[in-house]
Amino acid sequence: MLQTLKETVSWLRPQISEETKIGIILGTGLGDLANNITEKKEIPYEDIPHFPVSTVAGHSGKLIVGKLGGKPVLAMQGRFHFYEGYSMKEVTYPVRVMQLLGFKYLFVSNAAGGMNGSFQIGDIMLIDDHINLFPEHPLRGKNHEELGVRFPDMSEAYNRKLKKLAFEIADKNNIKLQSGIYVGTQGPTFETPAEYHYFKIIGGDAVGMSTVPEVIAARHGGLKVLAFSIITDIGILGKIVEVTHEEVQEAAKIAQPKMAFIMEEVIKQL
Ligand code: HPA
Repeated sequence: MLQTLKETVSWLRPQISEETKIGIILGTGLGDLANNITEKKEIPYEDIPHFPVSTVAGHSGKLIVGKLGGKPVLAMQGRFHFYEGYSMKEVTYPVRVMQLLGFKYLFVSNAAGGMNGSFQIGDIMLIDDHINLFPEHPLRGKNHEELGVRFPDMSEAYNRKLKKLAFEIADKNNIKLQSGIYVGTQGPTFETPAEYHYFKIIGGDAVGMSTVPEVIAARHGGLKVLAFSIITDIGILGKIVEVTHEEVQEAAKIAQPKMAFIMEEVIKQL
């Protein structure tokens, strides 16, 4: 893996300025943040050596290089989900590329179902912490010491200072920002009522099919992480309705300008 990673990185290196320290992964229906990126250059995934290519409708696959909040950034429009059949090494490959490009920060967004009784569709939830319920671990197998330690600490998976900054920005701008625990599961089914209930009992506030693998790889690689869920459906007993991929995308679309605003303001202040 290291050899292919190095080939990917040396292909990308001339196209990404050395000052770029911020990577952004945009979730389902959350690609609009890319419209705020200026001095933009797009690199389709299929052009990048060894890069996986995404397959799901609504997940267009390209890297967007440019500036956001005055800082150079690299955004991924379209991520690789475990449920699509990618291995965990493929799901986390882009994060490893960011790490080897010398990035220091990873910003992540996703769509998620809410189990917390005070959440509403369209709310933004800052991910305070996560519970990893994926059936395979992204760090399983031989550990490459160049990438990180064998047994990485996860006591601050989501960076405390970045979370505080996000809350200050939300407060100052009257944006409702929830906070909670994200449960990562493999999907692709949405949850049964009993499963939503179970995730709530074990301490979850929202559930989704992404983010956790990328965050684990990022922490292994020493990147500081800030992540947001957009609550696109509600899995609370009595409030559960049928969920479709289209509805998730629609709900995400409505909430995303506010999330994009918070992300951009945080980036300005880094
Ligand atoms: N469950 C899992 N993943 C999701 C959901 C959900 O309810 N909503 C959006 N992504």
